[in-house]
Amino acid sequence: MDEDVREYRRRTPGSARIFAKSARMHVGGVSHNIRYFEPYPFVTRSSAGRSLTDVDGNRYTDYWMGHWSLVLGHADPGVTRELASQVRSGWMYGTVNEQTIRLSTLISGAVPAAEKTRYTASGTEAVMYAARIARAHTGRRIIAKAEGGWHGYASDLLKSVNRPFDVPEGAGMGGQEEIVTIPYNDPQGAADVLRRHAGDLAGVVVEPLLGGGGCIPAEPDYLRAVQEAASKCGALFILDEIVTGFRLRYGCAYEKMGLDPDIVTLGKIIGGGMPIGAICGKEEVMRRADDGDREGRAYVGGGTFSANPASMVAGAATLGRLKSDRAVYGRINELGGRARDGLERALAGRARVTGTGSLFMAHFGADGPVDDPAKAAACDREALRRYHFGMIARDGIFILPGKMGAVSDAHSRRDIDQMVAASERSGVPPRGQGRKDVPVV
Ligand SMILES: Cc1ncc(COP(=O)(O)O)c(C=O)c1O
Repeated sequence: MDEDVREYRRRTPGSARIFAKSARMHVGGVSHNIRYFEPYPFVTRSSAGRSLTDVDGNRYTDYWMGHWSLVLGHADPGVTRELASQVRSGWMYGTVNEQTIRLSTLISGAVPAAEKTRYTASGTEAVMYAARIARAHTGRRIIAKAEGGWHGYASDLLKSVNRPFDVPEGAGMGGQEEIVTIPYNDPQGAADVLRRHAGDLAGVVVEPLLGGGGCIPAEPDYLRAVQEAASKCGALFILDEIVTGFRLRYGCAYEKMGLDPDIVTLGKIIGGGMPIGAICGKEEVMRRADDGDREGRAYVGGGTFSANPASMVAGAATLGRLKSDRAVYGRINELGGRARDGLERALAGRARVTGTGSLFMAHFGADGPVDDPAKAAACDREALRRYHFGMIARDGIFILPGKMGAVSDAHSRRDIDQMVAASERSGVPPRGQGRKDVPVV
C-alpha cells in the first residue's frame, strides 16, 4: 500500500496541488463525501469514452462512470451533438418545453407504470417526493425501506444504510421515527414488519438491486412478497430504479420480475449524465401532486432546474440511442458477466463478486455468497478500497475506492481482461489486516 501511495503521489503532483486548494474552499475538499479517497483524489481535467484524464495527463479506464450514470460512456458523440445544439438555443428556460415531452415519451413507452411523470434535479428529491405522495395518497405516516437501502440524502430516508443499521447515520436528521426498516431478500421477515405497521403504513420503497448497499440483486420472490404485503396493507409499492432503470435493459428491471409498482423513481441514465430525477407513477397516485387538487395534495416542487432542456435533451439522446440499438444491452451485460467471472477467478480465495448485467462489485473476506447487506457490510471494505486504490495508482484503472463498478458501451473485452489481470496482480492484504468499518455512502 505504501508503495502504491508513493507511486500515486509521483504520478499526480498536479492533483495534489489543486486538491490542497480545493480543501481550503470546500468541506473535506469535495462536494460529495464518497468522492474523497486517501491520500487525495486525482483531479479530472476531461473525459471521453471509457476514460477519465487527470490534470497530470494520466488516463484512467473508468468503471465509476459518473456515479453509474453514463451507460454509453463519457461524452458520447451522439449525446454531445444534441447537447451542444441545445446549448446554442439556451439551456435553462424555466418554462414548459418540448424537450421534456420527447424524454417523457421515451420513458412512458418503456415503463408501463409511468402514466404520469414529474422531474426533479436529483434522485434524492425524486424519492423524497415519492414518499410524500405515498403519505398524501394514503393519509398515513410510515414509510418502510430496506436495510442497506440507499435512496439519497433526504433527512428521513437516510436511515439503516450502514452497519449496524440501527444507529443514526449522522447528526441533524429529522422525521426518522416515521421510517421503519425491513430486511432485504427475506420475504417473510419483510412481510412481518409491514404487517406490524399495517394501520399506518403509507408506502414501501425498495431497490431491485442494492446499489450503494453492496451491488446485491433482489430475489424476484422477495420483491413480489414485499409488493403483495404492501398492497394488503393498503400502502403504495415504490421501486427505486435510479440505478437499475435503463441500466439492465431498455426500461426498468421490475417488468421482468412480474411486478406492478405504484411509483417508480428514476435518475442517472435517463439524464444522459446531466442532473435529473423523476417520479413516475400511476395516474391515480400521481394526481396527488397536481396543484389543482388542493384537497390532500402533495407538494412536488420539481425545483428550479427541473426539466431544464439540457438534461432533457441529454436524456432523450441517450434513451433514443438505447431504443434504436438494443444490442447495447447485449454488449454491456456480456462485458459485465466477463468482469464478474474474471474477477471471481482472479480474486479466488480473497473475494466474492456480486452484481448483474453491467454492474459488479468485489467483497473481500466473504465466507459465502453475499446476498444481503449485512453480509456485504461484514466484508473487508478497507481491503476493497486498497485493491481499488492499487489499480488507480499502478494500472490506470478507476473504480471509486470501495464502490460498485459499471461497464459502459465504450468499454471493450480487452479493457475487462486488463482489469482482471490487474486484479490478479494486486497484493490485497489478507482479511483483518487494517480492517475498519467503512461507510457505504
Ligand atoms: C438507488 C438510489 N436512489 C437514490 C439515489 C440518489 O440520487 P442522487 O445522487 O441523484 O440524489 C441514488 C444515488 O446513487 C441511488 O443509488
